[in-house]
Amino acid sequence: MEKCKRKSVDPVYSMCVQPSFIIGTNNEDGSYNFAPITWVSATQGEDEGYFLVISMFGTKMTKLNVIRTGVFSANLVSKDMLSLMDYFGSKHAKDGKKDDISYGVSRGEVLDVPTLDASRWVYECEVVRSVETGDSTTFFCRIRNIQMDERLSPKDIFDIDLSVLDPVIYSGKYHSIDKVLGSIGDFCKSDRT
Ligand SMILES: Cc1cc2nc3c(=O)[nH]c(=O)nc-3n(C[C@H](O)[C@H](O)[C@H](O)COP(=O)(O)O)c2cc1C
Repeated sequence: MEKCKRKSVDPVYSMCVQPSFIIGTNNEDGSYNFAPITWVSATQGEDEGYFLVISMFGTKMTKLNVIRTGVFSANLVSKDMLSLMDYFGSKHAKDGKKDDISYGVSRGEVLDVPTLDASRWVYECEVVRSVETGDSTTFFCRIRNIQMDERLSPKDIFDIDLSVLDPVIYSGKYHSIDKVLGSIGDFCKSDRT
């Protein structure tokens, strides 16, 4: 492999390859609200499984709803959901209900949270802990249920075909992924031959 020629720049660039989720929450009046959040990751849970880690800044309704109710759905955004994501992200709940476009909404299977019918992968989450940094709150959340597209039938926890999920990747712009490259170990095998 050739050495990459790099240059040092101002750390103002916070490039981070982010998965795109639309977060579904319950408003105080019983209605639902959705907003895109891409500061999403995962870490080890305390007992078993893993925590979804999600970070929100400011005083947006989604963040206030998560603080108040302690539950939400995280709906993975596939390419065909970009218009939904853009719409939910450009309108703030405090400016009115997000009902200028139509979309299907159901309720969670385990938690009482709104879920987006279009999503191919939905986490139903419950907040376990939160950490404040500046204007942001990072929530560590137990995943109480996963709803996955019926076309997926993974052999094990690593066997998720992202090409079925067709996720939108965000890093200042929207991107897509195209193909599966292989599994862990496939490439050190080929290096040795
Ligand atoms: C592509 C995209 C990614 C976003 N990611 C985040 C995020 O990770 N954290 C956050 O606090 N806000 C994020 N936002 C901003 C909120 O989605 C936006 O402020 C939204 O209007 C909030 O809706 P609400 O007022 O209904 O909560 C993102 C917006 C877009 C368009």
